[in-house]
Amino acid sequence: MCAADFYLSATPSVLGVGIATLDLVHEVAEYPHEDQEVRALARTRRRGGNVTNTLAVLAQFGSRCAWLGTLAEDEAGAFILEDLGARGIDTKRVVRVPGASTPLSCIALSRASASRTIVHYRDLRELAAEDFARVPLAGLDWLHFEGRNPVETARMMARARCERPDLPLSLELEKPRPDIEQLYQGPAVLLVGRAFARAAGFEEARACLAHLLAHTSAALCVLAWGEEGAWFVRRGNSPRQVPAWRPERLIDTLGAGDCFNAGVIQGLLQGLPDEQAVARATRLASFKCGMQGFDGVVEQARAAGLV
Ligand code: FRU
Repeated sequence: MCAADFYLSATPSVLGVGIATLDLVHEVAEYPHEDQEVRALARTRRRGGNVTNTLAVLAQFGSRCAWLGTLAEDEAGAFILEDLGARGIDTKRVVRVPGASTPLSCIALSRASASRTIVHYRDLRELAAEDFARVPLAGLDWLHFEGRNPVETARMMARARCERPDLPLSLELEKPRPDIEQLYQGPAVLLVGRAFARAAGFEEARACLAHLLAHTSAALCVLAWGEEGAWFVRRGNSPRQVPAWRPERLIDTLGAGDCFNAGVIQGLLQGLPDEQAVARATRLASFKCGMQGFDGVVEQARAAGLV
């Protein structure tokens, strides 16, 4: 499959499958030591979660987005629904889970480095293949999954491939998880984080890409490589690197990878060649690191001539 094979539409329709969280973001002057007590300089409450972050950016590009995941019936669940609704993201297929609580991330965002340290708690059940089976796939132009809950997610992918073999399917591999290889056969596009590559023993991007091509069905593997930009390879071609773009000041790196993934998906949906799609996504994600959150990131990056 190549970019031109993707269905091109002015307002593509994207379904994202994964999590939504409540993020309590504490800005600290610098990251504390163990057993230290520090005052936060600011505190914000945000809707987070990889896939919903990605959808929030895709929606800014004009894609029609829908989220599928599980959601608790507590106050934070209502906050998440409201946030997604305000962004025009369709939530009517979410699976409400009575008695559970919304997954919570307590985040220390360092003003010194812009690094984000996340302590995540969840007792909410993950989406099951049975939940996914009830969601129609007709009319979709793209289906994106978080690389989590491998056994169930593999069943969801199998259904999608069987019912809609034409539907481009992307998978985020952000961090290693037991049985994650169950997700290797199915996606056309792999969006891989550096933490995943490192945990798999790769310090070198080319070697990691070669490994992924050898062990997965992906036609395109994209590897975010931090300050060194990103690497990508299309099956049958040589790996290529695109440079990073650095904002004047690093402010907030929370969700930069989710923003990068949105940039790549949107670029491919628009029919951009791989290199342009990845380079644009890299600039967008880097630009995001120079601002708080995601609100208005696409518009501002556009005004700066970056996307
Ligand atoms: C950022 C993020 C946060 C969330 C955490 C979940 O990528 O999605 O919004 O709290 O990761 O792992």
